[in-house]
Amino acid sequence: MTETVLSVRDLRVVFETRRGTLTAIDGVSFDIARGEILGVVGESGAGKSVTGSAVIGLIDPPGRIAGGEIRLRGERIDDLPPEKMRRVRGRRIGMIFQDPLTSLDPLYRVGEQIVETIRTHTDLSAKAARARAIDLLTEVGIPAPERRIDGYPHEFSGGMRQRVVIALALAAEPELIIADEPTTALDVSVQAQVITLLKRLCRERGTAVMLVTHDMGVIAEAADRVAVMYSGRIAEIGPVASVVRHPHHPYARGLMGAIPTLSDTAERLTQIPGAMPRLTAIPPGCAFNPRCPSAFARCRTERPEPVAVERTRVACHLYDARGEAA
Ligand SMILES: Nc1ncnc2c1ncn2[C@@H]1O[C@H](COP(=O)(O)OP(=O)(O)OP(=O)(O)O)[C@@H](O)[C@H]1O
Ligand code: SF4
Ligand SMILES: [Mg+2]
Repeated sequence: MTETVLSVRDLRVVFETRRGTLTAIDGVSFDIARGEILGVVGESGAGKSVTGSAVIGLIDPPGRIAGGEIRLRGERIDDLPPEKMRRVRGRRIGMIFQDPLTSLDPLYRVGEQIVETIRTHTDLSAKAARARAIDLLTEVGIPAPERRIDGYPHEFSGGMRQRVVIALALAAEPELIIADEPTTALDVSVQAQVITLLKRLCRERGTAVMLVTHDMGVIAEAADRVAVMYSGRIAEIGPVASVVRHPHHPYARGLMGAIPTLSDTAERLTQIPGAMPRLTAIPPGCAFNPRCPSAFARCRTERPEPVAVERTRVACHLYDARGEAA
């Protein structure tokens, strides 16, 4: 039986600007089960980070959640008062960002930061919390953790620092981790190691993970399911084996044209001619229609709703009941 940890339904996030209300996320729905890694991909500006920020309650004005629901184990978290949400974040939801220094305070020893997190969320003594912190550093592969625990963040390499951030994110034993481009800033040679580590630790603990990346190599390596985002919407979502190898949505097809390696993602994303529209100019109908090789009349007027196709859900008129022939 799968236990749903995170459930997002019909999420809408808008930014109020001088040019009016811009819709950054429009009707996004997905679930993540216990121990499952959901990869979220799509080109720059697709709404990956804003979706992650909405889940962790960090959409700041001029942005706001304008619709939908976010539930953590069935409990609504999108409408919690800031103080309550702050406690959910950190304790029940861990965060890993591209820059480890977003999570680590350069002025404190890494051990102090991990111990503080452990003690905030458990009733362990200082001594026991330090022992737990050393265990965590060992688990994330920091050599000589008994000594390195007293080091400062700048004394660690980029890859080691991100391992410390993973230890910090796991310290409170969260049910969910939001990882936004966790390896993008790292050397290619250590990216795979860090991703493999994150995957193993979350599997062992049953932690659900939302792994935001534009890197299909990372997805193929780590994710169980993948959501392909385009213009603030999910174009296709399903098991990695289906979406990566047999994508249905024309945008996902362009993205997956060939299974890329860790290093050639940039070329992949530019293979689809044209660019994603700005939020001020999302076309009516299907947002992908100006770039879509399969577009037909209905695509320019009617927005496609996600429908089940084999093991995936696809938002494209080619697959809904009336299809292209209609
Ligand atoms: N504070 C803000 N004010 C106005 N618009 C914003 C703000 N933050 C994000 N956006 C817009 O929301 C959309 C989605 O942005 P988001 O950061 O989620 O993209 P992304 O998929 O994470 O891209 P990237 O791959 O570059 O990280 C973009 O069009 C962006 O310009
Ligand atoms: S709905 Fe139409 S424009 Fe959009 S992806 Fe499908 S075929 Fe292309
Ligand atoms: Mg982003």
